[in-house]
Amino acid sequence: MNVALHAEALPPSAPAGNPVDRLTTMLRADMRQVETLLAERAASPVATIPDLSGYLISAGGKRLRPLITLASARAVGGHGEAATHCLAAAVEFIHSATLLHDDVVDDSDLRRGKPAAKNVWGASASILVGDFLFARAFTLMVDTRDIRVLDILSRASCVIAEGEVRQLAALGRADLSVAEYMAIAEAKTAALFEAAARAGALTGCDNVSIANSLGEYGRRLGLAFQIVDDLLDYGGMTSVIGKSVGDDFREGKLTLPVLFARDLGDASDRAFWRRTMSDRDQTDADLATAIRLIRTSGAAERTLEAARAEADAARAALAQAASGPFADELARLADFCVNRAW
Ligand code: IPE
Ligand code: IPE
Ligand code: MG
Ligand code: MG
Repeated sequence: MNVALHAEALPPSAPAGNPVDRLTTMLRADMRQVETLLAERAASPVATIPDLSGYLISAGGKRLRPLITLASARAVGGHGEAATHCLAAAVEFIHSATLLHDDVVDDSDLRRGKPAAKNVWGASASILVGDFLFARAFTLMVDTRDIRVLDILSRASCVIAEGEVRQLAALGRADLSVAEYMAIAEAKTAALFEAAARAGALTGCDNVSIANSLGEYGRRLGLAFQIVDDLLDYGGMTSVIGKSVGDDFREGKLTLPVLFARDLGDASDRAFWRRTMSDRDQTDADLATAIRLIRTSGAAERTLEAARAEADAARAALAQAASGPFADELARLADFCVNRAW
């Protein structure tokens, strides 16, 4: 994390540390319940299931989505209801399942700073344990005894899968539009953030209009988060992001920084992007060239601006529905997701 940049962006009254750490502290009792559920529900007599899922889940991760669920519920008046804990655990299981599947699809070798599970147990085991975690998430949703939670999370699960399939079809497409990129990011990432916040709020307050505002907060935050994640793929530090830099480039996945670099560049730049990303004809020096083009063309700055716009919209939606210490941290989280960039 770029702590200096983050500190600059905070208003003077903000407490020290970053919003993820502060939310983790403020929600310590809730998170303990969630972690217990994650450990208990990953249990199975089939040893590969707890081994593989424990490897991923105990590797950490920011736990951003369950924190959003718990904080959304508290921000609108919740008091640590059991349904909120089940929901938060379900959300993290869905996230974990998509990561196991995603690393196979993207052929990524590093996750949370460790070899991807597919490199330890193989792709088949990774996919099947991902299926198990998805199924466990549905058991947890039923445990909330709240049909609205089931409705929101089951729909979001479909949308996430659609997003991943849509992205598959977009690989290498040199003419991919910004609108199509945003639609993919919205589906594969923002849908779960939205569901985490909206369903979380519903378990805390029973007010659909407030929950919808929190959902809009989550959706916009998710978009900002994915946009920044895609920028970090071209110049973040592996030691910080826990993933290999350049995965998207090697895979021919055209993300927002590349779309902007393509649109801002000249004919020879466009030929470079076509050769490397559409024809997948890459040399060892090409990733460094890609990073340089993204920085010098203004694409990196434009990508950050796009993420900032989403974070601003997230904060605006939140302000309509909630106030108080949890809402304050959720608002700071939106900026933090952008400021983690460089
Ligand atoms: C990774 O999400 C997947 C994306 C949506 C980019 P996170 O960066 O939240 O992953 P962990 O849980 O912290 O490892
Ligand atoms: C993240 O996709 C969204 C899902 C896992 C559904 P990415 O492929 O962009 O995320 P990373 O970079 O592997 O974490
Ligand atoms: Mg991936
Ligand atoms: Mg990525």
